[in-house]
Amino acid sequence: MGALFAAQLNSGMNAAWILCYLGHAPKWQSLVLAEIKQIAAKYNTDISLPLLDQLPNIPVEAWESDFRVLDACLRDSIRLQLLGTAFRRNVSGKDLHVGDEVVPNGAFVTYHLGDTHQDPALFPDPEQWDPSRHLDENAAYRKVPHGYVGWGSGRHPCLGMRFAKLEMSVVLAYFVAAFEFQTVEKDGRRMEKLPKVDQNGHAAMKPSRPVFLKAKERTS
Ligand code: HEM
Repeated sequence: MGALFAAQLNSGMNAAWILCYLGHAPKWQSLVLAEIKQIAAKYNTDISLPLLDQLPNIPVEAWESDFRVLDACLRDSIRLQLLGTAFRRNVSGKDLHVGDEVVPNGAFVTYHLGDTHQDPALFPDPEQWDPSRHLDENAAYRKVPHGYVGWGSGRHPCLGMRFAKLEMSVVLAYFVAAFEFQTVEKDGRRMEKLPKVDQNGHAAMKPSRPVFLKAKERTS
C-alpha cells in the first residue's frame, strides 16, 4: 500500500515541480522543446505538421529511452523531492554485522536520503535544480556506490521506474509542445525566485507558497 501511495505522490509532485522548474528556466524549456522536435522529426515524414500532431507517431520505445534532456530534468527534480528516510528491518532471524556496526535481529535501520542527495561533494550547489549534472558522464555522484538513490538502490529499487519515466516523458513533452510558459505570482508578475524545497519534509511536497504558470499556445 505504501508503495502505491508513494508512486502516486512522487509521479504527480515531480511532474508539477518540473513544469515549475521549466517555467522558471527558459534555457531548459528551450532545450526540452528542441529535444521533442528532434525526436518527433525522426519519426515523422511530414515535419510541417504542428508539433502536437507529430507526437502520436513517436513509438513507445522512443518515449521510454530517447528523451535524455527530459530524463535529466526528472532526475534532478527527484533528487530534490525525495525527502525523509528510507528504512529496512532486519528480518533475517539473526544479528547482522555491517562494517563495525551490528544491526540486532528485528531492529530497523534508517537512512536519510539527503545524506546523498544534498552532499555538495556529489552535487555542487545542492539546493539548485540543475539537469546538467545528469548529462555529465563524469559527474562525481556516478563515481561512488549509491551516489544517486532517486529510484532506490540495491535489492529493492523502484519497480515502477519504467512506467513512471514513460508517463513523465509523455505528460511533459505534450505540455511543452503545446505551451510556452513562465512562472508568475498570483497577480501575473514574473516570479523572481522559485520557492526552495523544504528539506525537512517527510515526502514529496507542494512548493511552500503557490507558483502560477502563465502559458500561451505555441505557434511554432
Ligand atoms: C517519479 C516517480 C517515482 C519515484 C521517484 C519513485 C521512487 C522510488 C524509490 C526511491 C523506491 C525505493 C524505496 C526504498 O528503497 O525504500 C521505490 C520503490 C518502489 N516503487 Fe517507486 N517511484 C516512483 C514511481 C513509482 C510508480 C509509478 C510505481 C508503480 C506503478 C512505483 C512502484 C514502486 C514499488 C512497488 C516499490 C517497492 C519495490 C521493492 O520494495 O521491491 N514507483 N520507488
